[in-house]
This record gives sequence, structure tokens and C-alpha cells, in this order.
Amino acid sequence: MLPISVTKATVLKDKPQDESKLGFGKIFTDHMFLMDYEEGRGWHDARIVPYGNFSFDPATTVFHYGQAIFEGTKCYRRADGGLQLFRPQENFARMSRSAKRMAMPELDEETALEGLKQLIAIEQDWVPHQPGTSLYIRPTMIATDVMLGVHAAKHYLFYIILDPVGSYYKNGLAPVGIYVEDEYVRAVRGGTGFTKCAGNYAASILAGAIAEEKGYSQVLWLDGVEQKYVEEVGAMNMMFVYGGNRIVTPALNGSILPGITRQSVITLARQLGYEVEETRLAIADIFADAKAGKLTEAFGTGTAAVISPVGELCMKDEKLTIGDGKIGPVAQKLYDTLTGIQYGRLPDENNWIMRLS
Ligand code: PLP
Ligand code: COI
Repeated sequence: MLPISVTKATVLKDKPQDESKLGFGKIFTDHMFLMDYEEGRGWHDARIVPYGNFSFDPATTVFHYGQAIFEGTKCYRRADGGLQLFRPQENFARMSRSAKRMAMPELDEETALEGLKQLIAIEQDWVPHQPGTSLYIRPTMIATDVMLGVHAAKHYLFYIILDPVGSYYKNGLAPVGIYVEDEYVRAVRGGTGFTKCAGNYAASILAGAIAEEKGYSQVLWLDGVEQKYVEEVGAMNMMFVYGGNRIVTPALNGSILPGITRQSVITLARQLGYEVEETRLAIADIFADAKAGKLTEAFGTGTAAVISPVGELCMKDEKLTIGDGKIGPVAQKLYDTLTGIQYGRLPDENNWIMRLS
């Protein structure tokens, strides 16, 4: 593990006064963690420094060819005031997998985790207290070579920034409407769908904007070949509930993100006695099964989105209402169980929690 130097900010920002208005992704703390990479030398110069701007040459490769990957995890405050992380090692391991696909260096996961812990120790007062709030953690890696050749860069910057957050969707746990995208695709087999590379999100923004104009929160992506099978939503994996006790979710096929929340919810659901099936799911069947009353709930899973019920799907001009406008019982049970573990209200039987204080 690398040594980590610390330079403290001399002027601190005002912390948000009203935690009910935090939203997502707008406020950043006083410090950040950085670490550099150079081919032949490896990761070096791990440091915590005051949060601030970067300065890069206009020819820096990340701006042109997009070698950029990121992660998302959270720090939770328990009722006794202590802080804890949820499976952060999984995020750094996934970042190394993303890096490999993008011809970027695998992360020094040990130093990244230690840097995160030290950063949170410095920023602990930024972790909000109100139920449902947390400190969102955004690890990022970008290519920093200055050149215009299309090659893997030899220099990279890894950094972690922190953002106190409330709920990702503005109406909290109220079911969201999702637009089923049947024109654009997000990822194809052999592509980068299983990674958290910036380009996946860039490719999704136009469809997301069109869906928003139509009044929907996000896009449900279909497979990139036949455009028939459910993949995932912009920031979450999807699960569908049949008959109140069976949960069906798209199998990991290389083009969807292997969500850490998805994997945790599958494990918890099985432990709670639900049957869980990972399979290929045709969107036509989802519509038919919901209309026939067989499909009773739909919800998404993600770090930012936690568990978000989906109350409406719209494909072309066909609107499908799922449930009665409130979160369904299965989504509620899984939400209570998952957040119970994350916030320390329930025992951590799967050893997912890393206590910081
Ligand atoms: N799918 C996409 C495209 C995402 O961006 C995210 C968010 O990270 C997820 C799924 C959920 O993944 P996780 O549960 O690891 O946050
Ligand atoms: C997360 O849930 O951590 C994400 O990365 C979603 C993000 C695209 C807002």
C-alpha cells in the first residue's frame, strides 16, 4: 500500500443546513483523494488535498478519446452516530474490471480503500444524519497523456470526491415512470456495457433527454441486437415481481452493469424466502404478464437509486401501469432489509459492512 500524504484546506465550506433538500450530485466536500499512474512506475503520489479544480492541457486524451471510468458507493451514518461503508471493495474490484476493458491500469485497490477511509475520517461531519441521506462516494479514473494518437495513455489520474446526498429521484420512494427505448441502444455484446465507463453514459444522454421531455424519469434499455429483451435502466438494474414471491431479473450478459445492489438484493431476497430467477426477459412478455395480472411489481436497484419502484412503463405509445401508485410489498421489504443493513439497524449477516467509526 502506498503512503498517503494529507494537506488540509485552510478555509472550509459551509455545510448544507437543510438535509431534506440535499438532492443528488450538487454539493462537494472540502477535500479529495488523488493518486497518479505512470506506465513503468505504477501508482504513486497518493494524497488527500483540498477539493479544487484540475488544470489539463487541451490535448489531454480523456477529452478526446474518453478513457474515463467511475464508481459509486456510499457512506452511511448509523443511529448511534457511527459511520459505515457497504461493500466498498466490490466497487474497487469493479473499477479494475472496467479499467481492463478500457485499456487503463488496474487500480491499486488497497491504497484506494485506505485513501477513502482517511478521506472520510477528515470529512466525517459531512455525512448527513437524516433518514435516507448518505455521503455519496465517486471514485473516478481518467487518462492524462497529452497526445492525439488513439492509443492507451501512459498516465492516469485516480480521484475520489464526496457528495452529501438525499434521494436520487426527486419524489423519494414514490414509483417512477420509465420510458422503454426502442430506437437507441446503450450497449452490445463485446462492447463496454458491463463497465462503468463515461462513454456508456454519454451514449445514453440523448435518449434520457427525450424520455424526460415526455415526462419519464429514465430510460429502460433493450438489448442492442434484437431490441426485444430488457437490459437495465440508466442508473439501475431492473427486477420484476411475479405472484408476490418470485423475482425475475435480466441475467448478466456482458452488456449490463453487474450492480452491487442487484447482487446484494438477489442474496437478501433468497435469504428472505423469495424465489429469484436471472434470465432473458422479453419486454413483450413484461407487458403481457402485467396486463394479465401476473406481474405485480417492478423496481430498480442501484447505489444512488437504492430500491426505486417503477409505477409506469411506456413503450411507443403504449402505457403500462404497474401497481397502485405506491411502493409494492416486495420492494418495500427489500428496501427495509437493504437499508436496515446499510444504516446499521439490522444485523449484517453477510459481512457486507465496513465500520469506520
Ligand atoms: N446500471 C447502471 C447503468 C448504473 O449506472 C448503476 C449504478 O451504479 C447500476 C446499474 C447499479 O449498480 P450498483 O448497484 O452497483 O450501484
Ligand atoms: C450509482 O448508483 O452510483 C451511479 O453511478 C448512478 C449514476 C449514474 C448517477
